[in-house]
Amino acid sequence: MKTLVLGGAGYIGSVVTRLLLQEGHQVVVLDDCSTGHEDAVADGAELVREDIGRTGDVLARGGFDAVLHFAAKSLVGESVQQPALYWHTNVMGTRAVLDAVTEHRIPRLVFSSTAAVYGDPDEVPIPETAPTRPTNTYGATKLAVDMMIGNECTATGLAAVSLRYFNVAGAAWGAGERHSTESHLIPIALDAAAGRRERLSIFGDDWPTPDGTPIRDYVHVADLARAHVLALTAAAPGEHLICNLGNGSGYSVRQVIACIEQVTGRTVPVEVARRRSGDPARLVASGDRARERLGWTPERDLRGMVADAWAFAQDRAASAPATAPATAPATAPAT
Ligand code: UFG
Repeated sequence: MKTLVLGGAGYIGSVVTRLLLQEGHQVVVLDDCSTGHEDAVADGAELVREDIGRTGDVLARGGFDAVLHFAAKSLVGESVQQPALYWHTNVMGTRAVLDAVTEHRIPRLVFSSTAAVYGDPDEVPIPETAPTRPTNTYGATKLAVDMMIGNECTATGLAAVSLRYFNVAGAAWGAGERHSTESHLIPIALDAAAGRRERLSIFGDDWPTPDGTPIRDYVHVADLARAHVLALTAAAPGEHLICNLGNGSGYSVRQVIACIEQVTGRTVPVEVARRRSGDPARLVASGDRARERLGWTPERDLRGMVADAWAFAQDRAASAPATAPATAPATAPAT
């Protein structure tokens, strides 16, 4: 297929681009590189450095079979502080994408949605039929886009898949996490293990879970990438298919830290901080629909994610120009 990848210079988009190329697809990446990195775009993909508002200019070239849409603002805390930025970029930006997809009669769309649409769930594992009650602006904007895509499918015959990611981790084919503002548990804990950061703050150890720390469902970015390739052909014309992507098993923050210490052979210095606002206690995906509709089952476990993320982070640190050792403490954000 000839594909347009919106946000192909970011973490997940750059990994999916690599797999698409490996599988023989043609890829054009559109990314404004505001949070992504030009050098993360896979060799073999053309980069158009533009805002997603210009999607129509690229689709006008003709011949595209599918759009994969990863381009979004995705920091939960920032979304609560700057809601307008999230509604403009994620919702208005995607409106422009959908207009272009319709105008140029692109038959298929794959969209990066999130488990954040479910908010604090009544039960785990979470099926796609669970109530959607996002607790932050990020989740609300992704839910709005899911609804907008559903309406578009009904009206135009577009075949679309929204993939609701749980906690994505790991690295693959030379691409991995390189956020300038890092908020995710695994990269922060790896940096603490490596001495690039003083310590990891555990955001609360008084949650209603067995060891008191929150439980999440971690999924390897390479498994996630495979789900996107399968999603390209999973929906029928006019259908909007929604699938959760997780491993179906939950790990607490303390279990993740223990795994990191085992894999790296280093200690992760920690302190217990107050809870982060908006964090649910437990998020685990039901994988039934992804298995049935995409034929997808994840193959890599937490250990594999940590090992791959560690190798990627160590490689990058080794090739980075020498700087003073980072001493910024991992402080808890204002709640
Ligand atoms: N955590 C810490 N200390 C840190 C960072 C995280 O204790 O320094 C804890 C969090 O409280 C949480 C767990 O580690 O319990 C995982 O936190 P992450 O920030 O890595 O991930 P989240 O579960 O908050 O969020 C992820 C994605 C979001 C998405 C959400 C959906 O990053 O984009 O999953 O559930 F919305």
